[in-house]
Amino acid sequence: PYPVYEKLRENNPIFKIMFPNGEFGWMITRYEDAVEVLKDNRFSKDMVKLFGPDQQNIFVHNMLFADPPDHRRLRGLVQKAFTPRTIEGMRSHIQQIADDLLDNLDSPDKMNLIDEFAFPLPIIVISEILGVPVEDQDKFRLWSNSIIDATSDVPVEVFEQHIQEFTDYLNAWFAKTRVETGDDLISQLVMAEEAGEQLTEEELISVVALLIIAGHETTVNLIGNGVLALLEHPEQRDLLISKPELIHNAVEEMLRYNGPVEFSTSRWASEDIDFHGHQIAKGELVIVALDSADRDEQKFKDADVFDITREKSPHLAFGKGIHLCLGAPLARLEGEIAISTLLRRFPDMQLQEDVHELEWRPGMIVRGLKEIPVKFK
Ligand code: HEM
Repeated sequence: PYPVYEKLRENNPIFKIMFPNGEFGWMITRYEDAVEVLKDNRFSKDMVKLFGPDQQNIFVHNMLFADPPDHRRLRGLVQKAFTPRTIEGMRSHIQQIADDLLDNLDSPDKMNLIDEFAFPLPIIVISEILGVPVEDQDKFRLWSNSIIDATSDVPVEVFEQHIQEFTDYLNAWFAKTRVETGDDLISQLVMAEEAGEQLTEEELISVVALLIIAGHETTVNLIGNGVLALLEHPEQRDLLISKPELIHNAVEEMLRYNGPVEFSTSRWASEDIDFHGHQIAKGELVIVALDSADRDEQKFKDADVFDITREKSPHLAFGKGIHLCLGAPLARLEGEIAISTLLRRFPDMQLQEDVHELEWRPGMIVRGLKEIPVKFK
């Protein structure tokens, strides 16, 4: 998408688009405009408030689709579990998970990086935090993939069936948790729901689904897209191998250069808004293209160059403003551990096929490869 974004940033940075259903929306591609929209509360996330209560999708009753004050309440309920300090305490455990996965590969000289490593690592971690069985990870993947890719080739019936299965699964799990409460995050949320006031049953299911989906759909692509960037830039890979202490910077650059989130940062105008001379009408969708903003030459010098020594890069991969990614400390730690462990154990890792043969996932919400087959000696 990058050449298209570049043209838009140059010629049409606040771009009015018509969707197939005839409705109008806007696409924001420059960095400064993106920050402005993300920080302006007139661009609302609350679909229910804007479009009425009969939203088909049960998964919108969470912080990502809420405005203040509901947003603060819903985020506050889970915030403690994701602070940098709490997350740092998980470092050695996450390292253990990464090592175990690489100790148990199907083959000694090759792997499918997504299936065998980049996907299981974050799903194991978020399942443990929430207290859901890690063995159900394939179900979570199936359900959340079809929700995330729903804008593309998933038939409506399959999408609806998966939503139903996911909802039934979570409801059954909550029922079990009510009887046997543990010290995991779901237990805390179930108790908050039972105590009344703090969150409704609908919100409970929606918040947990969001954490499962957001907890792995993006980090898998941070690891996958990050490894791809290193394999495409062998001099950067060699630099990182010789200076492992660059890993923190390297992950920030991977997030900027090949960000995992493409279009999910959408908002709706809650009133008529004059945005730099463009008339955005109440109810119109505004899409902030984070991947484009992060390649904006006005903000980043040599924006198309992948440079892991880039310092203090204020990229937007985790968004900005009140919805700034809650899981950013966790995603960063998982990314750093995953990439450095891979490089330490398989410094000669290579793609099994030509990079142009790799297939990207459909849909516009996340940007990541379906599979990354790699080999090593
Ligand atoms: C929000 C990106 C990993 C949980 C967001 C947003 C972005 C984002 C761009 C803001 C969306 C918007 O403003 O509309 C990413 C990326 C990740 C990642 C690139 C990995 C590299 C995670 C993880 C979790 C998580 C591991 C697990 C807990 C959330 C939640 C929100 C969110 C709960 C909603 C926050 C709110 O609305 O206040 N993420 N995310 N994310 N993310 Fe992440």
